[in-house]
Amino acid sequence: MRPRAILLFLLAPLFLLAQGTTTNTCLDCHSVLDGRAQRPALLVKNDVHTASGLSCSDCHGGDRTSDDPGGSMNRAKGFIGKPARKAIPKLCARCHSNPDFMRKFRPQQRVDQYELYQTSVHGKRLASGDENVATCIDCHSVHDIRAVKDPAAPVYPLRLPETCARCHSDRQKMAKYGIPTNQFDEYRNSVHWNALKIRGDLSAPNCASCHGNHGAKPPRVESVAAVCGSCHVLFAQLYQKSVHEPIFSAASGGGGCIVCHSNHGIRQPTTAMLDGPKAVCSQCHDPGTPGANVAAQMAKWIDGLDSALKHSESVLARADKYGMEVSEAQVRLGDGRENLVKARLALHSFEPGQMKKPIEAGMAIANETLRAGQDALHEKDVRRIGLAVSVIFIGITILAIWVLIRRIEANDAYRSGANAPAPK
Ligand code: HEC
Ligand code: HEC
Ligand code: HEC
Ligand code: HEC
Ligand code: HEC
Ligand code: HEC
Ligand code: HEC
Ligand code: HEC
Ligand code: HEC
Repeated sequence: MRPRAILLFLLAPLFLLAQGTTTNTCLDCHSVLDGRAQRPALLVKNDVHTASGLSCSDCHGGDRTSDDPGGSMNRAKGFIGKPARKAIPKLCARCHSNPDFMRKFRPQQRVDQYELYQTSVHGKRLASGDENVATCIDCHSVHDIRAVKDPAAPVYPLRLPETCARCHSDRQKMAKYGIPTNQFDEYRNSVHWNALKIRGDLSAPNCASCHGNHGAKPPRVESVAAVCGSCHVLFAQLYQKSVHEPIFSAASGGGGCIVCHSNHGIRQPTTAMLDGPKAVCSQCHDPGTPGANVAAQMAKWIDGLDSALKHSESVLARADKYGMEVSEAQVRLGDGRENLVKARLALHSFEPGQMKKPIEAGMAIANETLRAGQDALHEKDVRRIGLAVSVIFIGITILAIWVLIRRIEANDAYRSGANAPAPK
């Protein structure tokens, strides 16, 4: 035999082995079909399952080594065709709820998605025959399922709100349930979307942070304060001990923070929430009552400290512009702002006594840094007068020297005139 033939002969079993594991007649044939039958074959190159060596027959069953449709898509070989919508969660769960199977691919992978899904409003409604709700593929897509950390995945934090909104903002689809369809529009105007989308702060909540993903339900089941408190820990701690907590919980079944802040369209809080025509407090506290008085006092404190700090800041900035050394006071001003943050936090105890401390500490710093700024500006004035005096002094000196020089020159001219030979 020629050497080439020997080589081929020896390598043949390897080729066959490789063929046995990679033959995918499903993919080969579906790639050359068209329309809906072809689409899956075009999409799967981006699918996380393809990357793990899984393919068509791992979900659809059948025989991926047979080239004829009758053989490959054979129901006797477990082929299920296009799964019914209601059957999808269980299809995915075949692997994703099997810890032994999943461990082979990724040891830390959670295996509770299906279990949680069954507790969600989506899962419960699907079980009772409502196919409008989200199944696994409405959130994750199908045939191009991506890793959840992939920025192109529909469940990636920046994209998830739009994924939920595909149904929840669709008035027609949601009509029969009688629930609002404004969550996404409201959310898109909130401090949270602003932090997430505009500032790229992935710690800001998307829909699933507050509702859960697989177990998605309204937070009222758990209590809203606990949901907000999972991130705003200190605010929730103060609020839980406040006079409002038992009242708000009893009245609206866990209204908590959203009584004052709303849920989807949370805006940047201002003192207009406390005092004035749009105050949230005045919904329940009539003018002149203790609650209303406290609200007005709190607004005055926050506005007072805020404007005192801003005044100090502008005075220091002016001094800085004139080249005066005020960096220490500017750093100190940061501590003042810190106290303003603490005061806004302490507000959530709804006890004026607790809020007073940071307000007073902040005011002391505002005054101290204001003095530092004013002193610096005063010193600048003193220096300017000094400068002016010395400029005048130098000017006079220069003038005197000039006069002196002129005199000497005149003298020299006279003397040289005297020494000239007398006319003949
Ligand atoms: C030789 C070509 C060929 C092979 C091999 C093949 N298919 Fe198909 N498949 C088709 C055609 C043609 C259709 C029908 C398309 C239509 O009805 O529009 C189809 C339909 C399907 C459908 C949709 C069925 C439904 O209920 O709507 C699924 C799912 C499917 N194939 C999966 C597979 C899987 C998995 C394999 C491999 C185990 C496979 N196919 C192998 C040609 C093939
Ligand atoms: C991770 C599981 C999974 C894998 C892998 C998978 N599919 Fe599917 N496939 C599904 C599900 C679920 C549906 C039902 C989608 C729906 O209801 O919209 C589906 C639907 C289909 C349909 C019907 C499409 C239609 O619009 O009617 C075809 C055809 C199909 N798959 C072919 C394939 C082929 C070919 C492959 C391999 C290239 C493949 N699938 C890989 C889960 C999978
Ligand atoms: C309502 C939308 C939604 C539905 C329905 C849904 N998921 Fe998810 N899923 C998500 C989100 C959002 C994440 C990302 C969580 C994160 O970023 O950590 C996720 C994450 C995952 C993960 C990664 C591991 C993990 O648990 O974080 C897997 C696997 C998964 N989902 C599978 C499924 C399966 C299987 C189903 C159906 C039983 C399903 N999902 C239904 C939204 C959904
Ligand atoms: C045949 C078993 C099997 C089936 C069926 C299956 N998966 Fe997977 N899935 C896996 C494996 C294995 C991985 C890869 C784990 C890894 O490496 O992260 C995976 C990964 C995923 C991921 C990415 C998880 C992450 O951490 O980023 C998602 C999302 C997912 N699958 C959703 C689904 C959905 C939705 C279905 C049903 C349409 C489904 N899977 C059906 C086995 C399966
Ligand atoms: C495929 C469409 C669809 C998608 C996608 C979807 N949902 Fe739903 N969702 C529904 C339907 C339909 C209901 C049932 C409405 C009801 O029972 O009031 C529902 C119910 C809910 C409820 C319970 C509302 C209530 O008070 O009854 C919450 C919460 C919810 N979805 C959150 C989400 C979140 C969060 C996402 C995205 C991660 C999401 N949904 C994605 C269709 C969808
Ligand atoms: C900051 C937390 C938070 C975020 C983010 C959030 N929700 Fe909500 N959501 C809530 C709270 C709280 C409720 C009210 C529950 C109650 O009444 O007890 C609610 C209620 C709902 C309801 C029930 C109907 C309604 O409007 O009262 C749906 C549906 C819903 N949210 C979907 C979404 C969707 C979709 C997104 C993303 C676009 C989203 N939520 C983002 C906290 C949040
Ligand atoms: C997943 C974490 C998370 C959850 C849950 C959450 N928030 Fe936030 N929240 C943030 C982040 C991050 C910011 C942006 C902070 C910033 O601007 O520096 C923020 C900003 C805010 C702000 C503006 C404050 C500021 O300093 O700009 C308010 C008010 C607020 N959240 C209230 C709530 C309420 C009420 C809830 C519950 C309905 C809630 N948050 C749920 C993380 C969360
Ligand atoms: C009774 C009404 C009320 C309730 C209940 C309430 N807040 Fe507030 N919240 C306010 C007011 C008023 C402000 C400050 C307005 C200002 O800055 O002048 C505020 C400010 C905030 C801020 C912004 C702080 C900053 O530094 O700008 C956050 C964050 C916040 N609240 C979170 C929460 C959370 C979380 C809960 C529930 C645990 C909650 N609030 C409950 C009225 C309330
Ligand atoms: C949803 C109604 C509601 C809202 C909104 C509300 N409160 Fe109250 N608040 C109450 C009730 C009810 C009490 C208990 C009154 C009592 O026990 O006599 C109370 C008690 C108080 C108290 C203790 C003094 C008192 O009147 O007993 C203070 C202080 C207070 N609230 C401040 C505020 C401030 C500040 C705001 C706005 C940021 C606010 N409240 C918003 C309902 C509300």
